[in-house]
Amino acid sequence: MAKHLLLLNGPNLNLLGTREPDVYGSLTLEDITSEVEQFLQPYAVVLRHQQSNHEGELVDMLHIARNWADGVVFNPGAYTHTSIALRDAIAAIEIPVVEVHLSNVHARESFRHHSYLAPVCLGQIMGFGWRGYILGAHALLGAWGLVEH
Ligand code: DQA
Repeated sequence: MAKHLLLLNGPNLNLLGTREPDVYGSLTLEDITSEVEQFLQPYAVVLRHQQSNHEGELVDMLHIARNWADGVVFNPGAYTHTSIALRDAIAAIEIPVVEVHLSNVHARESFRHHSYLAPVCLGQIMGFGWRGYILGAHALLGAWGLVEH
């Protein structure tokens, strides 16, 4: 049976492509989504993508994902560094969530060094630009046993 993957993006990531391209790269969110789609093509995985600039909406999306998704690749944007609500949502849904950041947050301002979400995620990927989303999807393939673990 096919696995279902949610590609979830938080605040300001809808502006990728034009937003600080020296930090976040020149691909749009649409470009990145189609790269992930292409990467997943050989596997029995159904991809859905969602984006929101609103914390509560992201909480709702995670709750709903509990009912249909087998895993989430999540770039929570700045909520990474502020949101106990998103941490609690990830802990509550009991499906694997991979935290992804385009930039290496540890090489940036100190307020970006702490993640409220990392302790409840399967793992964290950062610093590799848009390819981090591919790496996150690959990590879920491993967790699902679709590639060598
Ligand atoms: C980000 C890093 C966050 O610190 C920042 O607030 C973002 C993007 C990244 O992908 O590098 O919005 O999550």
